[in-house]
Amino acid sequence: MSKVTVVGAGNVGATCAQYVAEKNIADVVLIDVVEGLPQGKSLDLMQAAPINYHDRKITGTNDYAATKDSDVIVITAGIARKPGMSRDDLLKTNANIVQSVVEQTIKHSPNAIYICVTNPLDVMTYLTWKTSKLPKNRVLGMAGVLDSARFQTFIGMETGCSVEDIRAMVLGGHGDLMVPLTRMATVNGIPISELLPQAKIDEMVVRTQNGGIEIVNFMKTSAFYAPGASAAQMVESVLFDKKRLLPCCVLAEGEYGLKDVYVGLPCIVGKNGVEKIVELKLEKEESAALKKSADAIRENIDVLNKLMVPA
Ligand code: NAI
Ligand code: 2OP
Repeated sequence: MSKVTVVGAGNVGATCAQYVAEKNIADVVLIDVVEGLPQGKSLDLMQAAPINYHDRKITGTNDYAATKDSDVIVITAGIARKPGMSRDDLLKTNANIVQSVVEQTIKHSPNAIYICVTNPLDVMTYLTWKTSKLPKNRVLGMAGVLDSARFQTFIGMETGCSVEDIRAMVLGGHGDLMVPLTRMATVNGIPISELLPQAKIDEMVVRTQNGGIEIVNFMKTSAFYAPGASAAQMVESVLFDKKRLLPCCVLAEGEYGLKDVYVGLPCIVGKNGVEKIVELKLEKEESAALKKSADAIRENIDVLNKLMVPA
């Protein structure tokens, strides 16, 4: 049975662990700096196993030795932005956390594939790659799966159709400049433009771009069910070598005219991580929007490089 380490036993980490175990994908090690938290949540999840009929082991720990030989490492450790904290403060705090998490996990699992979830997502995924010194195919970030799921949810709500028939992808960074590909969104192959007026589609695009903040405004904390499920879907595609075509945060090296930036692009995800970046022929406005989103990430990568001492 494969082994997945989830770093950060908070809302997203524990939910990801739950989906990975309950979908029978892998055994899970849940690790956090807070003593007792991963142990308690793991025991609670184990006690749900007889009800949910699975035999996956979920182990809680504060000791990285227990993560040895993990096949996949999911990083959810970090903090949310607090009042009075600038974006740069958040970037630096989470960068220090992610850097130390990568340094500690890679020692025990040099062959793992990393899936980063911590925000700011695209920059933290870049940092995971830089710190781990792994080949680019083994480091990817989760955002596009979540943003696309949100877009698909809204299409389902507006058309009244089952989400089982809805396909839609969001590319670009995990921020206001993300690019929902409306032209390629379909309900069982039927373009959404055949089913909904343009004004409604435009509304859904904005709602998708604000998908995270809409939930924060309700709960005063960020989303975790859909983020946990999204990370688990990526883990599943890697461990079961499913070759799903998923939008993931990956290193662009010329694809879509983008270079030296981690950004959301469509990928084939399998046992080697990112097995291929799929290049679509985009319209001029779509390409321009993607470039704008990537430029914003690159600016943040520059901020990161100025803030951080190289690993
Ligand atoms: P949370 O606060 O519930 O959990 C974070 C956990 O990280 C805490 O339990 C904390 O103790 C732990 N932690 C902090 N420093 C650590 C370290 N050095 N080593 C190990 N654990 C450490 O936060 P939540 O809601 O689970 O979010 C986690 C991260 O995921 C945040 O950065 C959030 O912004 C991000 N996120 C990203 C999404 C995406 O689409 N990429 C979606 C939702 C959240
Ligand atoms: C989300 O999109 C905050 O990144 C987090 O829900």
